Amino acid sequence: MEPQWRERRVYPLLGILSVAALLYMNLGDKFRFPILWQPKMSFVGTNSTHFVINGDAGEQSVVYINGWNSYWLMEESVWSPSRARVSKMLRRGAQMGMTVCRTWAFSDGNGPNALQISPGVFNEKVFQGLDFAIVEARRQRIRLILSLVNNLNAFGGKAQYVRWAQEAGVNVSSSTDSFFAHPTIKGYYKEYIKAIVTRKNSLSGIKYSEEPAIFAWELMNEPRCASSSSAPVLQTWIAEMAAFIKSLDQKHLVTVGLEGFYGLEATERSEVNPGEWAASLGSDFIQNSAIKNIDFASVHAYPDSWIPHAALEAKANYLSHWVDSHVSDGEYVLKKPVLFTEFGSSLHIKKQGIYDRDFLLKTVYDKIYDSAKKRQAGAGVLIWQLLVEGMEEYGDQFSLVAWEHPSTYELIIEQSCRLLNIFTKGETNRKVHRGNPCFGRIS
Ligand SMILES: *[C@@H]1O[C@H](CO)[C@@H](O)[C@H](O)[C@H]1NC(C)=O
Ligand SMILES: *[C@@H]1O[C@H](CO)[C@@H](O)[C@H](O)[C@H]1NC(C)=O
Repeated sequence: MEPQWRERRVYPLLGILSVAALLYMNLGDKFRFPILWQPKMSFVGTNSTHFVINGDAGEQSVVYINGWNSYWLMEESVWSPSRARVSKMLRRGAQMGMTVCRTWAFSDGNGPNALQISPGVFNEKVFQGLDFAIVEARRQRIRLILSLVNNLNAFGGKAQYVRWAQEAGVNVSSSTDSFFAHPTIKGYYKEYIKAIVTRKNSLSGIKYSEEPAIFAWELMNEPRCASSSSAPVLQTWIAEMAAFIKSLDQKHLVTVGLEGFYGLEATERSEVNPGEWAASLGSDFIQNSAIKNIDFASVHAYPDSWIPHAALEAKANYLSHWVDSHVSDGEYVLKKPVLFTEFGSSLHIKKQGIYDRDFLLKTVYDKIYDSAKKRQAGAGVLIWQLLVEGMEEYGDQFSLVAWEHPSTYELIIEQSCRLLNIFTKGETNRKVHRGNPCFGRIS
């Protein structure tokens, strides 16, 4: 056979085959998942200290939240085989009566499955993973809190932004506080915000800024500064970035992502902090959360890490005080809802028939239930963090597969249902259906 003949006939054929294979591989993910119909959903808003859902007729219903964290939804949605984990987590979360999940909408740098490879340069395949997570959440009527950058080094974080600027030859001090201060880095972060907020979902065709399954944007997971002298810089950064998001998206709520520590100024509250160290991180719950474009306050709670040597009762007392103090700030000072966006407890030791983790979790749940009954500012709590089976690589000391811990699992469902009960009492038009975990639990 003449080599020329082969080239003419075989190469085009190979070309067609490989194009077909590529098309199949790319469309395969989409064909698995045709978006013909999506549940109707409204945006969440706030009215003074309450979260509200706006109804069709302009009426508002107040909601209190039972939710969870699964920070890995985007990462596990990049490749088809692991997408089942994301779907399962969201389905099981909904089956526990939960309504909100907090997750990472960032992955910066050269890690595997990084979303932002370099400033303003995105991996489309990973973006499609985030698209998938959002569509799946909506399918389960779960709303997502999307966090936009990490304070910590995991998934790149603020340190990655500082390195990018240095690599670009910008004269940036290597202190990670440059993240909050340097105009070049602030510019990178704004570009990032813009790319996310204006993203059009490749599966649903809906712009993120128009997607009601997004509960809120979170500026940063646990912002902290290297020193308390950066407090004014952090304050300015929060105001600037929150205003920037609002300039692109007026429909979604914005929160900071704070752990909730009181700063040096808040001397009368400093005894509520877990230690003196907490006041010197440059953040201040009151000042940071009071910023106009911040719609609700965020707080974390980790008694097992913050006061590791205390006895269980002391931890529970500490936790009660911590929650009360922030709810009261939301109610009387900030006049905004306060969402406990992370609560974690590592202990699962059984003593006198009660597990330690359940005891601490119930302490927080009871506080939120009380707040809901009184229509106060304590608007909900999200447990840190839930996994499905076989995800040890995503685990930390606070992670669990909820249904493998029946007492904790039951506690979570009970919280969902009693919150629902407050607002469905006597309302015959909002019957709880048989498929709902609260069926039979609503009085
Ligand atoms: C906000 O809540 C108040 C008091 O509950 C209510 O009177 C008011 O109508 C609500 N605002 C809107 C816009 O619905
Ligand atoms: C870099 O910035 C520092 C602090 O702002 C300044 O002292 C230094 O001169 C700058 N270096 C260069 C090469 O511009």
